[in-house]
Amino acid sequence: MNNCLIFSGSANTALSTNIVRYLEKDLGKMSRNRFSDGEISIAIEENVRGKDVFVVQSSSPPVNENLMELLIMIDAFRRASAERITAVIPYFGYARQDRKDKPRVPITAKLVANLLTASGVNRVITMDLHAPQIQGFFDIPVDHLFAAPVTTAYFQKKGVDENNLVVVAPDVGSVKMARAFAKKMRADLAIVDKRRDGPDEVEVVNLIGNVRNKTAILVDDLISTGGTIVEAAEVLKKNGAVSVYASCTHGVLCGNAIAKIKSAPLKELVITDTIPLSPENNLPVIKVLSVAEMLGEAIKRIHLSSSVSSLFI
Ligand code: R5P
Repeated sequence: MNNCLIFSGSANTALSTNIVRYLEKDLGKMSRNRFSDGEISIAIEENVRGKDVFVVQSSSPPVNENLMELLIMIDAFRRASAERITAVIPYFGYARQDRKDKPRVPITAKLVANLLTASGVNRVITMDLHAPQIQGFFDIPVDHLFAAPVTTAYFQKKGVDENNLVVVAPDVGSVKMARAFAKKMRADLAIVDKRRDGPDEVEVVNLIGNVRNKTAILVDDLISTGGTIVEAAEVLKKNGAVSVYASCTHGVLCGNAIAKIKSAPLKELVITDTIPLSPENNLPVIKVLSVAEMLGEAIKRIHLSSSVSSLFI
């Protein structure tokens, strides 16, 4: 692994540190400053010529700052003659803008893919994309990882009502992810059919499947304002679920999310460390699982040209 260097952006240094700890390496040396007008300034402080460089940076809030920082870092590595640059983007922001769902709107996920490619990145590693087909927005290789091995192992170890479990998709878009989770947990599947009136408004319409007298786990790629998960949890309780857990890979937790979660009928909300959890958001009901080892293992396999997909068999 000597030819492999791992650098961290400022979005999630704790995750980057845990990744290099798993790989028994140190983080690459880089300084980050700001010009007086707020522009980001980056300087790589070691030789990267001919190296296999991995840059870890989630495009989590502040999304535009973190994304711009990533683009600037990639440009610096390209101009410093790195042999290959891989952007490790555990949480890929702007992913929800992945199609024109009404006239005269952008497809920002595609724009971000174009920006990354134009900056000179050769490869992307990401996790639980909002829509897996975003991989196709890139004309470079994308390794799409899943947090499910980590999250399902947690629930299995916890032994949550394993003979009486139902996994629930909180909206139609999450069905595929929830189905894979249900298969791993050997549980039934239910779906909350949600209609949204505005970007931050949620209206739950229907429940497909049986949750009565069962323990339910809601599964989604992310929790942002909390509207989707909290409304779905309430529907499950109204329909007779005994207890409700939620497993969301990316804890964006913005807006009124924390207030909503505090009063929600949730036994536990499981998220991962793709996005750091701020101390003020760290409620007792929130459990953070680490995906650092999985990301570290993927980096190792990519560097050594071995299979990444076999991580998920
Ligand atoms: C939607 O399609 C996503 O999978 C999430 O369900 C949604 O974006 C979560 O957002 P919020 O927490 O604001 O409802």
